[in-house]
Amino acid sequence: MKAKDWYNIIFRSYDTLYKDEQIQKVNFIISTFRKYINSKLENGLDYGCGTGFSIRIIKEFCNKTFAYDISENMVKIAKKKHPEVIYIDRLTEKYNEFFDLISCITVLQDSENPKEDINNIYRILKPRGYIIISVLKRSNSREYWKSLLNDKFEILLEEEEKKDYILIGKKL
Ligand SMILES: C[S@@+](CC[C@H](N)C(=O)[O-])C[C@H]1O[C@@H](n2cnc3c(N)ncnc32)[C@H](O)[C@@H]1O
Repeated sequence: MKAKDWYNIIFRSYDTLYKDEQIQKVNFIISTFRKYINSKLENGLDYGCGTGFSIRIIKEFCNKTFAYDISENMVKIAKKKHPEVIYIDRLTEKYNEFFDLISCITVLQDSENPKEDINNIYRILKPRGYIIISVLKRSNSREYWKSLLNDKFEILLEEEEKKDYILIGKKL
């Protein structure tokens, strides 16, 4: 089943099932990324925002927070929690080189084409913009996920959280 269809079906149970896990992951990422940032960045995007747990990363480090997800039902819940965020339906050309920071938390292991997602993220990041990715360890090897970033990003940090690999990079 496609990720969009799956999350459009299970959206009501997502918070009950994954709340503790996602909050812990997001807290870990925020405390880790803080070491790289000493003043707020301008535009940040949470790519695959789901019901909104990972939006907190962007709010913490950016003046303007944007969010994007392929599942309309997941976004409906995120909108209730974070009504002030700017939700994007399509990442059109007007967003090329627009974002200073993009988070993509527990998303790519569900994607049908993670390479395409990375290309998209690369396109809309400003030069030297930051990317924060977490992927479930059980999905694929750390080397595989790193290989998707290798020729596009300088990898600043590789970490492991309980269930995830976490990679922080800077656009080359
Ligand atoms: C496991 S949830 C994670 C949600 C959120 N980032 C969090 O930390 O709770 C995965 C989310 O990624 C979205 N997703 C999957 N593939 C995507 C893609 N190619 N582009 C955008 N969103 C995607 C799904 O719709 C779902 O909401």
